[in-house]
Amino acid sequence: HAADAHRTDLMTITRFVLNEQSKHPESRGDFTILLSHIVLGCKFVCTAVNKAGLAKLIGLAGETNVQGEEQKKLDVLSNDVFVKALISSGRTCILVSEEDEEATFVEPSQRGRYVVVFDPLDGSSNIDCGVSIGTIFGIYMVKHSNEPTLDDVLQPGENMVAAGYCMYGSSCTFVLSTGVGVNGFTLDPSLGEFILTHPDIKIPNKGKIYSVNEGNAKNWDGPTAKYVEKCKFPTDGSSSKSLRYIGSMVADVHRTLLYGGIFLYPADKKSPNGKLRVLYEVFPMSFLMERAGGQAFTGKQRALELVPKNIHERSPIFLGSYDDVEEIKALYAAEG
Ligand code: AHG
Ligand code: MN
Ligand code: MN
Ligand code: MN
Repeated sequence: HAADAHRTDLMTITRFVLNEQSKHPESRGDFTILLSHIVLGCKFVCTAVNKAGLAKLIGLAGETNVQGEEQKKLDVLSNDVFVKALISSGRTCILVSEEDEEATFVEPSQRGRYVVVFDPLDGSSNIDCGVSIGTIFGIYMVKHSNEPTLDDVLQPGENMVAAGYCMYGSSCTFVLSTGVGVNGFTLDPSLGEFILTHPDIKIPNKGKIYSVNEGNAKNWDGPTAKYVEKCKFPTDGSSSKSLRYIGSMVADVHRTLLYGGIFLYPADKKSPNGKLRVLYEVFPMSFLMERAGGQAFTGKQRALELVPKNIHERSPIFLGSYDDVEEIKALYAAEG
């Protein structure tokens, strides 16, 4: 049967989100429009990433961002594309990007109800050697739509109405949660459409992989050091875990979501707040993990309950399979 070999009922991401939104009678189609602009940005970045070596997109842009990182050409290009795509959707009122020091307040004529926080290109250090990179985003609803202020951005992660990422890997994969469940879509390059390929992703309760930059081990605190030691030398008769670390949060989290296990970016003596940024790295990934049945913990509290005080704030993060995160929580609790 010819139809068996081919997908014939094409569940595109737009069709999927329209279906989901139709369950909410108050829905006005705004979210679908916003998402289609994010998707367009991701398709553009995917194409740019694929031809980076050919299109002179490799290397540094020459500027340093507010984090003190040297921007890559693709960081700057991706940021420009997303800022323009988001503003032109007419559905956003405040944007926060890793690459922009200040939040962008959209002018009233183009203003909508959504706040979007994003990391336009995650895993910059992997660009020049062709390893997987991505885009991460989180979406809030504005609290006071007449006069949006930074208060609308500095909300705990649990207030997000949606979060997701796009991974530019061996294929281009878009993972999204609009609050219930997590779904994965793969770009069909010949159609230019993301098709539902990973419906209702659930993270395994326990995994066999831990993922951390072990080069920082000498600066770790007690609980993190103990946890990683247990991964390698388990004392309860279980087998030791494998280590996988790509160095792109999107790719490390994507693998964790599909295979199970734990991803850690802990605090260390040099970076007491860890490295990853609360609004556009920690929150969206924590949101997805919880919606897929996993957990996300900062070393002190449930990550999504954090209330950020500034837009580029950082936090340690431990996220992944429910039981694996439970173990690190116990170690931090024991330390008091
Ligand atoms: P970005 O490229 O957006 O600045 O993010 C880099 C982050 C993240 O992708 C990754 O998890 C982490 O940096 C890796 O850091 P280390 O190189 O310190 O391991
Ligand atoms: Mn960066
Ligand atoms: Mn990043
Ligand atoms: Mn980035």
